[in-house]
Amino acid sequence: MSNLFKRTHMCGTLNIANVGDEVVLNGWVAKRRNLGGLIFVDLRDKTGIVQVTFDDTIPQDVFEKADTLRNEYVIGIKGTVKERSSKNTNLATGEIEVFANDIVIYSEADTPPIYIKDDDNVDDNLRLKYRYLDLRKLKMQRNLTFRHKVVKVCRDYFDENGFTEVETPMLIKSTPEGARDYIVPSRVHQGSFYALPQSPQLFKQLLMVGGTDRYMQIVKCFRDEDLRADRQPEFTQIDLEMSFVDMDDVINMQEGFIKRVFKEVMDIDIETPFPRMTWDEAMERYGSDKPDTRFGFELKKLNDTVKDCQFKVFTDCLESGGDVRGICIDGGSEFFSRKDIDKITNDTKAYGAKGLVWIRVNEGEYNSSVNKFFSQEQLAEIAKVFDAKIGDLILICSDRPKVVFDSLGFLRREIARRMGLLNDKQYNLLWVVDFPLFEKDDETGELKAMHHPFTSPKLEQIELLDTHPEEVKANAYDIVLNGVELGGGSIRIHDRNLQAKMFEVLGLTKEECEEKFGFLIEAFKYGAPPHGGLAYGLDRLVMLLLGEPSIREVMAFPKNQNAQCLVSDAPAPVDDAQLDELGINTKKIQ
Ligand code: AMO
Repeated sequence: MSNLFKRTHMCGTLNIANVGDEVVLNGWVAKRRNLGGLIFVDLRDKTGIVQVTFDDTIPQDVFEKADTLRNEYVIGIKGTVKERSSKNTNLATGEIEVFANDIVIYSEADTPPIYIKDDDNVDDNLRLKYRYLDLRKLKMQRNLTFRHKVVKVCRDYFDENGFTEVETPMLIKSTPEGARDYIVPSRVHQGSFYALPQSPQLFKQLLMVGGTDRYMQIVKCFRDEDLRADRQPEFTQIDLEMSFVDMDDVINMQEGFIKRVFKEVMDIDIETPFPRMTWDEAMERYGSDKPDTRFGFELKKLNDTVKDCQFKVFTDCLESGGDVRGICIDGGSEFFSRKDIDKITNDTKAYGAKGLVWIRVNEGEYNSSVNKFFSQEQLAEIAKVFDAKIGDLILICSDRPKVVFDSLGFLRREIARRMGLLNDKQYNLLWVVDFPLFEKDDETGELKAMHHPFTSPKLEQIELLDTHPEEVKANAYDIVLNGVELGGGSIRIHDRNLQAKMFEVLGLTKEECEEKFGFLIEAFKYGAPPHGGLAYGLDRLVMLLLGEPSIREVMAFPKNQNAQCLVSDAPAPVDDAQLDELGINTKKIQ
């Protein structure tokens, strides 16, 4: 015989309108207090917490059972909803309580190793090890439900627009997306390996060749790269591809999607079209290809202003082809002490900057870290470039252009964060377009595709591929929300000759092309439609909409900083027998 109390309501849904209702609730004990003749239990399920009261009018055995309850016991109760005499305005259900008359204990619980409270400060690794307890927090359940809603809107929207969801394989040959692959050994073909997809890029293009016309997929992707707050080794993309489209078609379709997500999931109207900014402009003004436009502090180039100065760091840098650029922080002089500036300068070293020059705009004088080399007039010239006012702080970096952009790009955001200017209820969406087709590899100095080698160049620049490939722009676009790259995509090359040219510029031999992407090139021989698409990071989208600091907060079972799953203890060694079967010999690395 089942002892299940069949649930009539979820805990968090009860309110004053339920007064008088007979209800049956199931859930976990969040708190229990015994005040002599009265026992109060906070009962929790994924919808919220409600107070359940046991008094001495109920059968003695029920009261005694209630008295044995401890935190995280799983129980069912039957009772009547009553209006509370003293209301709890902190609780959604705080106007009522449920007077219980029966109870069942489904499961007892040991004292949990972490507190199940939204605002606890538990160590991250402990949270991840006991993720099933962490997930009991209402915030985590809200996040999962919110994510589910975004996915639902996604499926609805793209379905209404003629997209078909198609699954693509997980055991594939490595795709060129720029990160390291996770590889899986083959038992049948010993010595050969599958790769887990970094994205379904090649397969979605094959679907276009296959006539699918509009494809979408909510898909797991795998990248073995260094982890950050917005990066996980295994993450989810909303992946899309469309045939017979140009960049505007893709962008319009995506703006409709994002608008719909904001409206349906958060009831926020956002304006479309989103602003578009060229990659060049984004770098010049913000030092980043994912600019956060919620605040100012725009970069200014100072090369001309300082070219004749006495400060050798600047003049040497300019001579060797570097740049001198800076940002001006409104009111920064007072906000940041000398010690703060030293700390920020130190943090900027991670981006390659060797140091920062600072200038404080004080009443009647400029004070700076380079007073010895600059006259007051020269400092005034610099201040003029920024339209600086009394109380402002100017920070200047000189180095290779990439280092200057990266350092100042980091600085403006870090400073805005410290000054409390990052309002996570403000949503600044924009497209960054006209990316360079190629970039130079930092280590080898060789050209590599900035997105991937199937990205179409601007057709009007094709001639430059032979002479000045680094000047060629791509038909590529990224969507950026509050300084985070939400998604990216491009119009693809569908012409085999152009694709061959692209490989040639990238320095790939015929054999290498054949080996890496032979099947795509082969497919293009048999009639490929013009096509293009985009992929969003679903985890990032949900993180930003919820104002969470990390994508881990919106994933059920994320990996920790060292790419481990602490719940299941992966990765882990496997049996010798398993390795033998795969024909794999491991050797211990000393
Ligand atoms: P891209 O490599 O830009 O493009 O990836 C698309 C989006 O996926 C998200 N993303 C990640 N999210 C969490 N953890 C990671 N490690 C991670 N890496 C990427 C980002 C990013 O914008 N095939 C192309 C898309 C296309 O051209 O259609 C691709 O994968 O939000």
